[in-house]
Amino acid sequence: MDSFHPLEKKIIAASLAFAAASIGLIGYAAFALGIQVPDCVTDVAPFAEGEVLRHAADRYEVHLVAKMWAFEPPTIRIPVGATVDFFVTSPDVTHGLHIEGTNVNLMAVPGAVNRAQARFGRAGLYRFACHEYCGAGHQDMYGQVEVVDGDVLDQTTAGAANEAPEKSSVDWAQVKKLPGYSLHASKGCVACHSLDGAKMVGPTFLGLFGREESFEDGGKTSVDAGYLRESIREPQKHLVKGFAGVMPPMPLTDEELEQLVELIQALR
Ligand code: CUA
Repeated sequence: MDSFHPLEKKIIAASLAFAAASIGLIGYAAFALGIQVPDCVTDVAPFAEGEVLRHAADRYEVHLVAKMWAFEPPTIRIPVGATVDFFVTSPDVTHGLHIEGTNVNLMAVPGAVNRAQARFGRAGLYRFACHEYCGAGHQDMYGQVEVVDGDVLDQTTAGAANEAPEKSSVDWAQVKKLPGYSLHASKGCVACHSLDGAKMVGPTFLGLFGREESFEDGGKTSVDAGYLRESIREPQKHLVKGFAGVMPPMPLTDEELEQLVELIQALR
């Protein structure tokens, strides 16, 4: 074993010394200085849950929670020309976020909030996906930014004109404070049910309460709390005429169910 160059020995010794010093410093920081790895911040407002905040007609702020294995919210709707600040974090393992057609390329790290800004100058669909391998469901982690023409009142209101009902007296400031309002986004209802009358895959929530609905199977009802509970729990039971039966049964607690019913009631 005389094949070591003398310099090689010195370099190995120096490496070991640095490694030992690093480990020693970590120990010193943890025990002597009491510095801890940050706790998970994703249960701390305002980044605890996914949401889309509208600050002005062209300024939005998005809190994206990347978790095993979905983005919350999965769909973000903003108007053309909007500048959006994205804040992303993770409650479990490290995920990635890349939004196509933009320079948004972030890591979603537990215990940290990362930020990037993008301006969406053209209408269209900008898909985003997790680009950090994060386990069995990695390939299911994707979502989209829908950039639409015209003003968007909030994340759920696009092209408000296409089925705008008679002027409603909805108190939007009140509505936005309801727990059901954030559930509507975080549970993904937003993907199919607008709050402003815009026609999407499912019936809009605006003016739904108290409305007469005809079913695909011929029956009729006026929409009340009981009917809403039933159709959220068992969407296929009485399909509203004109809508395909594509709604998945929602895994909601009883409390969340009531909060959604309360939201719809407030949108009369
Ligand atoms: Cu999350 Cu890959």
